[in-house]
Amino acid sequence: MKKIVILISGRGSNMEALIDARDAGTLPVEIAAVISNRPEAAGLETAAKASIPTHFINHKAFPGREAFDSRLAECIDEFAPDLVVLAGFMRILSEGFVRHYEGRLINIHPSLLPSFPGLHTHQRALEEGVRIHGCTVHFVTPELDHGPVIIQAAVPVLDGDDEASLSARVLRQEHLIYPQAVRWFAEGKLRLDNGCVRLAAEQADSATLISPGIR
Ligand code: GRF
Repeated sequence: MKKIVILISGRGSNMEALIDARDAGTLPVEIAAVISNRPEAAGLETAAKASIPTHFINHKAFPGREAFDSRLAECIDEFAPDLVVLAGFMRILSEGFVRHYEGRLINIHPSLLPSFPGLHTHQRALEEGVRIHGCTVHFVTPELDHGPVIIQAAVPVLDGDDEASLSARVLRQEHLIYPQAVRWFAEGKLRLDNGCVRLAAEQADSATLISPGIR
């Protein structure tokens, strides 16, 4: 069975969606550890309750990004994971770290990339007046919120939406597509071809969730 390590910084609801899928028997992975750079991350408690080993590495205790990233990589590599899953991990990663995990480091971002990389994606989507918004799971490259797209889910932006209603609608989709992406990885159904993700033939139709009826 493939082994994954999950990195979080906060609430950990995407991590929880992965734990739930594993517990439901629909995600055939071993969650070897959850690592947070923030001690107060609520997700640490959720992981501990699920009997998953947790680690806290305080980025503030390191002189710079490279030093923190190298300690983080050391901690991750002790578990020898097949895949490293960023689930609300609020750190920009150094190029050396990203290269070390090339092809086995994925992230979830709350927008339809390449639109709205960075922070405050829902507010920016509302300000731009876009009609379709969503979320993306992608392989990580050294460029922020960039890399081969594995799966995306689209939701409508409705009249009267505010940041809270829109982010809640997107988050429900995040909790569907992240387990799906990890499942494909675990089952060997993802292949990188010239910087693009290719899915095994029988999955090829399901890498986009378009859900116009979603509220
Ligand atoms: C999610 O919206 C995710 O897309 C983004 O950070 C948020 C993390 O939420 N990268 P949670 O900690 O998984 O609840």
